Amino acid sequence: MTAPQDLYELGDAPELGSVPRQMYASLIRRERYGQPVDAFRTEVVDVPPVRRGQVLVKVMAAGVNYNNVWAALGQPLDVIGARQKAGATEDFHIGGSDLSGVVWAVGEGVSGVRLGDEVVVLACRWDESAEDIRLGGDPAASVSQRVWGYEENYGSFAQFAVVDDYMCHPKPARLSWASAACYMATAATAYRQLFGWDPHTVRPGDPVLVWGGAGGLGSIAIQLVRHVGGIPVAVVSSPERGEFCMRLGAKGWIDRREFDHWGRMPDTTDEAAMSRWLSGARAFGRRFWEVLGERRNPRIVLEHSGADTIPTSIYLCDNAGMVVICGGTTGYNGDVDLRFLWMRQKRLQGSHVASAREAREVTRLIDQGIIDPCLSRTFPFDEIGLAHQLIHDNRHPAGNMAVLVNAAE
Ligand SMILES: NC(=O)c1ccc[n+]([C@@H]2O[C@H](COP(=O)([O-])OP(=O)(O)OC[C@H]3O[C@@H](n4cnc5c(N)ncnc54)[C@H](OP(=O)(O)O)[C@@H]3O)[C@@H](O)[C@H]2O)c1
Repeated sequence: MTAPQDLYELGDAPELGSVPRQMYASLIRRERYGQPVDAFRTEVVDVPPVRRGQVLVKVMAAGVNYNNVWAALGQPLDVIGARQKAGATEDFHIGGSDLSGVVWAVGEGVSGVRLGDEVVVLACRWDESAEDIRLGGDPAASVSQRVWGYEENYGSFAQFAVVDDYMCHPKPARLSWASAACYMATAATAYRQLFGWDPHTVRPGDPVLVWGGAGGLGSIAIQLVRHVGGIPVAVVSSPERGEFCMRLGAKGWIDRREFDHWGRMPDTTDEAAMSRWLSGARAFGRRFWEVLGERRNPRIVLEHSGADTIPTSIYLCDNAGMVVICGGTTGYNGDVDLRFLWMRQKRLQGSHVASAREAREVTRLIDQGIIDPCLSRTFPFDEIGLAHQLIHDNRHPAGNMAVLVNAAE
């Protein structure tokens, strides 16, 4: 094997198994925290070491997710500061929680993947020796669980990324590098939300309310619900997004701009304000029945919008149904009128990322062409900041976005 150069241009690389000393990466630094378009900048850094159980992946394309909007803003978590407190020495963040690429180097004790394998990655990392996992717990819910490319450094916005072997899954062969890179974080998360919380899994005939139906999570969720015979109803903020949801299989869509009861609930002792809020929530519920074509409430509500919508989600959810939440885009105060929760025996369930099994299963559905990863737009490497700014401003195209790293198309 010939000795590699120190650094290669994007798209160029040494022979398989040979690793350069440095790489191009799109970095966030603490002094650049703020608007995503300004927070990311391409710099040259050392390629990270590959430890036991890890592989180095040559990144062909990377997926764009909401989490690195938060990383760029430095809120609600200063990801660099948090890692430094835990002992890390790097003063930068390389984000990116989705990739498609080629296994370029393999550490000791790696199993399940080999040099040259084409892979996609689930961004859920855990410590396989953690006591809760050894005692049979779900690794995705382990105290050791972290999101790679957000909480953990050396994500996919770089020429090379380091991941643990169990995070890798075979890249669906029929997909381009960009399509393969765009889906895992949203698809696996939506899959766990809809099928991971027994007995509240989607059954044939179940109405399911999907917030942000044209978003990353929503576009996959609509298809998953339809695939098992459920009835997805999407919430969106424009007719164009509504039509997009219809093409994916939604029964119908609701334009949330027609309602104004969003935000935190009034105090339950304030009767006038409560009655105004209830009439807004009831009107939204009537619209749901209209779109569904029958007077049934959603058995499952797929939540991620958070503070603005959670009171309505809990109100509207069917008796003994479930609101399953994986994010809080509009804020973290989830107001619950507890009477709806206990009297109608509803479940409010937190859900985060996914297990390796869930990632593999949703990847199989994508590989079989049953679920479309919904690649909407592909950006060049130097527009990573722009892609995140569009998400931040809710001006991004419907579906999931990707960035070309080493791939030309
Ligand atoms: N925990 C996890 O594992 C995990 C995984 C993936 C994502 N997430 C989180 O989930 C959230 C959504 O992610 P995503 O990838 O689907 O993002 P996305 O592609 O931006 O979609 C989110 C959708 O939310 C809708 N929305 C925006 N403001 C809203 C409001 N005030 N009320 C209701 N809906 C609103 C928008 O649709 P309309 O404007 O058309 O309504 C938007 O399309 C983010 O906060 C993300 O961090 C968590």
